[in-house]
Amino acid sequence: MTADAAAPALGEVVALLGDALATAPRRFGGLVALSIGSAVLESAALMLLPVVLGGPAVLPGLPALGPVALGGVYLALVGLAAAALYGQATESEVLIRRFGERLRTRLHEAVLGAAWGSPALAHPSELQHAIFAEAGQCAFAVRLGIDLVGRLVTLPALLVAALVLSPGVTLAVGAMALVLGLPTLRLARRAYRLSGTLVRENRALAATLSDELSGLKPIKVLRAEPARGLAFAARLEALGEATAAQARATAGVRAWQRLATACAVAGGAGYGLAVMEIDGASMIALAVAALRLASGGMQTVETWRQLSRLLPIYEQVRRREADCLAVGEPAAAPTPPRLRRSLSFAAVAYVHPGAPAPTLSGIDLELPARGVTALVGPSGAGKSTLVDLAMGLIAPTAGTVAVDGAVLGAADRVAWRGRVAYVPQDGFLFHDSIRANLAVAAPAADDAAIEAALRRAAADFVFALPDGLDTRVGDRGSRLSGGERQRIMIARALLQDADLVVFDESTSALDADTEAKVLAAVAELASRACVILVAHRPAAIALADRVVQLEAGRIVAVRERRGAAAG
Ligand SMILES: Nc1ncnc2c1ncn2[C@@H]1O[C@H](COP(=O)(O)OP(=O)(O)O)[C@@H](O)[C@H]1O
Ligand SMILES: [Mg+2]
Repeated sequence: MTADAAAPALGEVVALLGDALATAPRRFGGLVALSIGSAVLESAALMLLPVVLGGPAVLPGLPALGPVALGGVYLALVGLAAAALYGQATESEVLIRRFGERLRTRLHEAVLGAAWGSPALAHPSELQHAIFAEAGQCAFAVRLGIDLVGRLVTLPALLVAALVLSPGVTLAVGAMALVLGLPTLRLARRAYRLSGTLVRENRALAATLSDELSGLKPIKVLRAEPARGLAFAARLEALGEATAAQARATAGVRAWQRLATACAVAGGAGYGLAVMEIDGASMIALAVAALRLASGGMQTVETWRQLSRLLPIYEQVRRREADCLAVGEPAAAPTPPRLRRSLSFAAVAYVHPGAPAPTLSGIDLELPARGVTALVGPSGAGKSTLVDLAMGLIAPTAGTVAVDGAVLGAADRVAWRGRVAYVPQDGFLFHDSIRANLAVAAPAADDAAIEAALRRAAADFVFALPDGLDTRVGDRGSRLSGGERQRIMIARALLQDADLVVFDESTSALDADTEAKVLAAVAELASRACVILVAHRPAAIALADRVVQLEAGRIVAVRERRGAAAG
């Protein structure tokens, strides 16, 4: 029962400290050495204390020193122990900071490296919470773990000193403390279980908030504020209940400990003085040892309690990292495939992870290296999924996607994306300047090239902005209209030297005149790249050399319209 309660947490502590050890092995080793040093020095000082106080020497073979020299040695031992403790504290601070940084970096890399569409990426707000908040809590857990290791060295050293001073009294106090302390293990186990609930409630609250704040506009228009308020209050209440239950379990552990310690120390002192008739000097040293042991023991339990509250978080963070790494993409192939003849799909099917039915099936399609292909079909037909496959963003569940006849493997898909320009359906810009948003795709482009691309994308409005290219676009580009965002993304695609250019309903928010300008740029692009235009409007469809019609995940018609490209 006892072992059962401690086992899962202990495994996690070992994993946590192993992780910290891997962060900075030498620093970690230094920390352990400093802990051992300070513990040994303190326990030596304790064993010397009876002689310093004029009592009998507990250790044989001590050289006969005068009281001043003995006092000096005692002070030196205590001073060195304190210095070691200081070193331990400052070193652990550095280690903890490094650990936090490394954990965040690792998680961030794992998330960025995970394959698109995998369930590990399904809850962005939870990933954000993990990288931002939970990784910090894990670093704090390392601090507690290091603290615990220090105590696990200090306590045995103090115990040895106490045993040397008087085995009888030490064993009597120890036995009492052990018997009285046993019930706290059950309480501590309950506190550990409750901390898991607390972690889940906290995460749910963070996810709810993140969703809500990014959807504030529809919430207001839907007049959903009262409902959201109620949902928020309910979440807060659940969190409050979990916190209160945990606090009760914790308070129980503390109160019981206080009682057990008081009983054990008082009983031990009485036993030493009345039954074992120990001399005064030794009794003082023993009392110091007993109090240090008692407070150290209680602090150890307290540290363990705090740590066990954080362990479920660490476990979750590690699971998230593992989930992302499990779907991690390989490094890009050294040379990206080049599209000179055709991009082809052969018997391609795609099933979204967890979806009951395939989104696409039986897709056979060959797109030439130059020209415009319009992809049409009702909403939900699978158009975006098909372009995701073409861009190498996702892998077909069955069948193959090939560039110039070479089937794209996992590493090729990553490299292939370097040859793709993409204007997504749900316009997204980074909260940065317009220039920076364009430079993401073409770092080498100068202002002249950027301005030319913006003009060709009918994004002249940028030049009328007070800050021009330096205008910051707001979170996700929220300070611009949908059509303005689209045109900036189109300009970005024009700046890229790409083999495949995908416009996923990219002109849907543009008026007819602006759309006509953008389509002229698209037609020009088609002379040097394979362009896929997911479109609904006649002007866009009229531009296409080929119209592929998709319905319920299948190609139902392909119409070649040679000579229509000049449209
Ligand atoms: N991440 C996903 N998980 C499960 N199903 C998805 C996912 N994304 C899209 N789908 C489903 O795949 C189908 C095709 O979606 P999509 O390719 O976006 O269609 P379109 O772009 O033609 O409107 C839809 O029925 C949609 O519900
Ligand atoms: Mg779509």
